[in-house]
Amino acid sequence: MSILNGNERLGRTVGDVAEVAGYLWQRGWAERNGGNISVNITDLLGERDLTRPALAGQVALGRPVPALGGQVFLVTGTNRRMRYVSSDPMEHMAVIRVMPDGGAYEIIADRIVKPTSELASHLLMHDHLRRQGKHNTVVLHTHPTDLIAMTHNPKFLGRDVMGTLLWSMIPETRIVVPRGIGIVPYALTGTVRLADETIKLLDDYDVIMWEKHGCLAVGEDVIETFDMIDTLSKSAQIYIQARMMGFEPSGLTDAQLDEIRVAFQLP
Ligand code: 13P
Ligand code: ZN
Repeated sequence: MSILNGNERLGRTVGDVAEVAGYLWQRGWAERNGGNISVNITDLLGERDLTRPALAGQVALGRPVPALGGQVFLVTGTNRRMRYVSSDPMEHMAVIRVMPDGGAYEIIADRIVKPTSELASHLLMHDHLRRQGKHNTVVLHTHPTDLIAMTHNPKFLGRDVMGTLLWSMIPETRIVVPRGIGIVPYALTGTVRLADETIKLLDDYDVIMWEKHGCLAVGEDVIETFDMIDTLSKSAQIYIQARMMGFEPSGLTDAQLDEIRVAFQLP
């Protein structure tokens, strides 16, 4: 029986993930199987679903995630295309439960779909956020073309350089992404090293660029998490279009950005 049966809140969350997967494809950020999404759905489940038997054996995690013992996640499958996650989410996602000691996970629904190759990374981030007492239940990774292109220029990789530039393109970005963007130097996809470097920045940022690879964002809700990346991409588009018209955009001044910070009570 599907884990979705009769669970309206879970149904809505799966619908939101499908909606966002569609946007990632429409934006051109999800070539082939590019990108992955995980959502902590533990609070949406009743006792019967939380304890449902596993569909397959346990899979060890390279690094334990003790704060996630017993927690249940909805995750996109590895090698699955976002356009199909969008049209048929439960065909291309897995529901996994972390073992009580945090050393392994098992698939509990809806079918045996191998989770994303970035699962270790996602779970280490969820573990970190949970230990910090944060309510972030979503980790979203995608490949936004414009933002990735910017990471190919070393001048944007200094601390807060890219974030401040993108803030200055349009007031919305200062408001929607108030903590700016962190940058993780290039590291191999799917590795604990990439996760460790990302986690170091999660106390300061909700959106992090992986140099020459993609974007990683955390949030309380998958739609809001997508919106942060989308707004940053809008700023990148304004910057790029100004450069294509042959000028360096003047950008909002520090005083104007500060005025927005005060008016919207931002950090
Ligand atoms: P998966 O298909 O394993 O999720 O990998 C996609 C990706 O973007 C890796 O960084
Ligand atoms: Zn990727």
